[in-house]
Amino acid sequence: MVERDLPKVETGVRFSSPAPLAPAFKDEESMPNPKTILVTGCAGFIGGHFVQQFKKRFPKTKIVGIDDLSTGRKDMLDSSTIFYKGSILDEKLIKNIFSKHKIEYVFHFAAVARVFDTIERPRYTSEVNIIGTVALLEASKNHRVKRFIYSSSSLVYGNDTKLPMKESENVFDPKYPYSIQKYVGEPFCKIFSELFGLETVCLRYFTVFGPKQYGDSPYSTVICAWLESLYFPKNKKAFITGDGNQSRDFCHVNNVVWANILAMESKKHFQGEVFNVGSGIRIKLNDVKRLIAKYTGKRLQPEKRPPRVGDVRHTCADITKARRVLGYKPIVNFDEGLKQTIRWFESRKI
Ligand SMILES: NC(=O)c1ccc[n+]([C@@H]2O[C@H](COP(=O)([O-])OP(=O)(O)OC[C@H]3O[C@@H](n4cnc5c(N)ncnc54)[C@H](O)[C@@H]3O)[C@@H](O)[C@H]2O)c1
Repeated sequence: MVERDLPKVETGVRFSSPAPLAPAFKDEESMPNPKTILVTGCAGFIGGHFVQQFKKRFPKTKIVGIDDLSTGRKDMLDSSTIFYKGSILDEKLIKNIFSKHKIEYVFHFAAVARVFDTIERPRYTSEVNIIGTVALLEASKNHRVKRFIYSSSSLVYGNDTKLPMKESENVFDPKYPYSIQKYVGEPFCKIFSELFGLETVCLRYFTVFGPKQYGDSPYSTVICAWLESLYFPKNKKAFITGDGNQSRDFCHVNNVVWANILAMESKKHFQGEVFNVGSGIRIKLNDVKRLIAKYTGKRLQPEKRPPRVGDVRHTCADITKARRVLGYKPIVNFDEGLKQTIRWFESRKI
């Protein structure tokens, strides 16, 4: 599947800066220049990458960030961010942030983003993932934010969806509390647009991977978990559920960052429109395993475990809509992204 056009692998290469993010603007005039943005979950994997890339493209923009550091890491924080350590559920803090800074765009990444955490703590995670989102929508509406960009998930699609998954063919069939929690944010965005005129965009990310995604949590996704087990075996023991022929649309984190920037830059008017953000290609876990072994030169032998209840068998994004409306296309492919991620693990000290 991904076998074709695999370039030769270099191992032992030091991690260099991530691939350049995005095409430059054609002319100065077409360049939007947001004065202030709010990034929730700015110390998280995606939020951290977003801030780093955003400031390269918009060096003059003031970036305000909030994160409770529950899964976020201090080393993901950018020193130029005006950072508030706290929860999106803290009404007073949210009010203060919006009153103090004239926020133009909100990029909402903060969430309990671990599926199995939402199974163990459905009530708390519903508060963060649903009420937290509504609280930010409300503050955005009250403070006349120009656009609210919401991080949704491919897990809102169920198991029986036709492949590739199209936004219009979504048979909502949640398998986990996380799927419901992420889904609910989408109609809330639409309602806030329709009732209050707040512009909202919902981006459904497929399985995101890339450098700086640590694999040491019991909820880690497969690429970082397997690499963690290879490079830091004390932190993680690799396992695979089922026969390994299940597949995922793995999307490099820079593609997700790029989609967020496009959603902000677009001159179209948005009322909760939903867009898939993936690569459009699915890869079997057995192929990921083989490629990791090949690229690292290490033996990866994940322990076999039975399939998990509700596990989605395959995911694959149809990215036609994002391509047509936002001009989105993946800027880092799977091979390049995997090698870059491996280099980061090789360079990691702890
Ligand atoms: N990683 C993926 O594969 C993926 C796929 C689909 C959707 N998403 C969504 O993308 C977003 C970012 O995910 P990620 O992979 O970077 O996860 P992450 O856990 O690395 O980042 C989430 C951040 O939110 C913070 N946070 C959690 N609860 C908070 C609270 N109450 N108040 C303030 N901050 C809080 C965490 O500390 C963390 O820094 C999430 O909304 C997630 O649901 C991720």
